Amino acid sequence: MPASSMVRALSNPILPTGEKQGADLRWSQSGLSVAHSSSRITIPQLVARKGGEPIAILTAYTAPVARLVDPHVDAILVGDSLGNVVYGMTSTLTVTLDMMIAHGAAVVRSSSHAAVVVDLPFGTYQASPEQAFMAAARVMRETECDAVKLEGGEEMAETVRFLTHRGIPVMGHVGLTPQSVHVLGGFRARGRDAAEARRIVEGAKAIAEAGAFAIVIEGTIDPVSREVTAAVAVPTIGIGASAACDGQVLVIDDVLGTAGDFKPKLARRYVDLGSQIAAAAEQYAADVKARRFPGPENVYGLSKAGA
Ligand code: KIV
Repeated sequence: MPASSMVRALSNPILPTGEKQGADLRWSQSGLSVAHSSSRITIPQLVARKGGEPIAILTAYTAPVARLVDPHVDAILVGDSLGNVVYGMTSTLTVTLDMMIAHGAAVVRSSSHAAVVVDLPFGTYQASPEQAFMAAARVMRETECDAVKLEGGEEMAETVRFLTHRGIPVMGHVGLTPQSVHVLGGFRARGRDAAEARRIVEGAKAIAEAGAFAIVIEGTIDPVSREVTAAVAVPTIGIGASAACDGQVLVIDDVLGTAGDFKPKLARRYVDLGSQIAAAAEQYAADVKARRFPGPENVYGLSKAGA
């Protein structure tokens, strides 16, 4: 780690201090220590992956999807992208805290390996560090997730410090920040002009120094994403950023092909579940109309063996 990063690391309460992670003890109410049975990846373990094995993150919003992705990824992000992909909203601005808590709790209940990070939605943290604490504390308490994520650079540094120093791990998010789409003027890649590139790099440095344990870099040109990754002591997680980031995150619907026909350049579709779901629905409807469903095996009371 470069010396400048070491200095930054000292002010970050979440950065690993060198002691062995994972031998986790919890204190029972009687004061005796009891073994913590969860084998969930911890936030310090993610931080320790800076410059090491890349961190794989997927979004998930529901119990069945969380259960399926959990063994394979290091963290699950319950992103406010759920507004678009689950609720059919046109932006993330209309997502509420109650929605994030309901989906976050479902994902935590249905996973046991990956760390779970839940997005703070628009309007629940930007006004003040105190407002952010109240929203983040509700998310942590009501979902039992491991951390929250919020968008913004230098302007959010004070809030990141406030939350981190009060026990709430914070993942930052810089570059293309969808909650600011109306200020940014659209979803084009960021960092192409020198002033904007500087703002992104300085913003990432500010929130890392304030205690963010990792930083998502979204929709930002490769050289700027590399510069951020080299400049901060915590892992960067790219989405439309750079292969040089310390990890990557994708929206699960882009991976599964369930997000419609639009294929964003930043994503890779690993399976076309969308076509398979449509074909299954078509076949089911045809079977019902032709009285091929239900079959004898699907009904009760036809034979002695039947229940
Ligand atoms: O909401 C989300 O899914 C996100 C990712 C795109 C990083 O913030």
